[in-house]
Amino acid sequence: MVNVAILGFGTVGSGVAEVLTMNSALIEQRTGKAVRLKYILDVRDFPDSPYKDCFVKDFSVIESDPEVDVVVETIGGATVALDFTTRALKAGKSVVSSNKELVATHGYDLLQLAVEKGVSYLFEASVGGGIPVLRPLTNCLAGNELSEVRGILNGTTNYILTRMIRAGLSFEQALKEAQDNGYAERDPSADIEGHDACRKICILAALCFGRHIYPDQVPTQGITAITLADVDYANSCGYKIKLLGRALRMEGGKVCAYVAPHLVSSENPLAGVEDVFNAISATGNAVGDVMFYGRGAGKLPTASAVVGDIIDIAKDVTTRKRNEWAACDRSLFQSPEVLTFRWYVRAVGSMDAARAAFGEIMPLARGGAPAQEIAFLTESMTLAQLNEKLAALDVQSVIRVLA
Ligand code: HSE
Repeated sequence: MVNVAILGFGTVGSGVAEVLTMNSALIEQRTGKAVRLKYILDVRDFPDSPYKDCFVKDFSVIESDPEVDVVVETIGGATVALDFTTRALKAGKSVVSSNKELVATHGYDLLQLAVEKGVSYLFEASVGGGIPVLRPLTNCLAGNELSEVRGILNGTTNYILTRMIRAGLSFEQALKEAQDNGYAERDPSADIEGHDACRKICILAALCFGRHIYPDQVPTQGITAITLADVDYANSCGYKIKLLGRALRMEGGKVCAYVAPHLVSSENPLAGVEDVFNAISATGNAVGDVMFYGRGAGKLPTASAVVGDIIDIAKDVTTRKRNEWAACDRSLFQSPEVLTFRWYVRAVGSMDAARAAFGEIMPLARGGAPAQEIAFLTESMTLAQLNEKLAALDVQSVIRVLA
């Protein structure tokens, strides 16, 4: 028998309880043991819940119960969740988490603690929701030197952009729909400002390149400035606007990472990733390009990944499952300003002025554009080179084009 305690009975926590119950026979068959939900920690009361006998309000009940093998942390944030995760690991319990903020900010220390205690700290659900991506990257692709990992890492923003592109909804209407569907974070600014994607690219970069990268190192831009005009111009030249997180291995063992919206060519498989779906692609020196695709948010998809981790631990609770990386070294972080891109520019002015500043450009057009509005794609250049040329224009929007 393996005993599980869930911390937080929100969207993900309640989904984990549901999957453990719904698939209990299968889980027992696959692990050779019964996996029992023993406790659920939440400050709220759930008198009508089918799990009502499991609820406790005091974490020390779980911490001090020697029968608890696995603690599932779905509280979110990096305060209470950090305290409970640290205490659970110190008490010799393995921890499974969907909490990307905690892993991105304290992952190195928590992994060190897990090593010290000989227990596992697993967080497959923290990136890509239900997509199996962390384990394949670290196990199945372990024979590769990876040069880049990139992806659509936030379901809420992908849902918003898709609804703007397909249904012509405003940003606010599409955000409301995403919140109603339970995709958004409690504070949606973490989604729309790109912080959630930033935390996920930090975790991917740490696993792929072996060193902790903190979210404050990663330049991050969300989608709040994207308008229907930008969506239309992108569409006119065969591109979709997508929020991407990217991490690249640079010369000298340096790593570069950033989060920003991009124009992605319709021919790139990432352009076909719509609604709440996420996709993560990686490039390895043996495998070439691989892509992982699936539901990046939502109750049961995320619970699916959490339960996969629980099963991994339950098969043999005495053997620590690896997730490991080295401490952060800020001198090994390369600013993304060295990267070159073609750029999409929307401005108020004349094409003649744009040509005078940029030379060769690709003009874009859309129906219903106001007089004086221009849009174009530039040749390839760095951000600094772009900014120098933009000084001649009244710029409204600037977006990278993914090569
Ligand atoms: N708010 C997140 C998203 C949830 O929309 O992707 C999954 O991490």
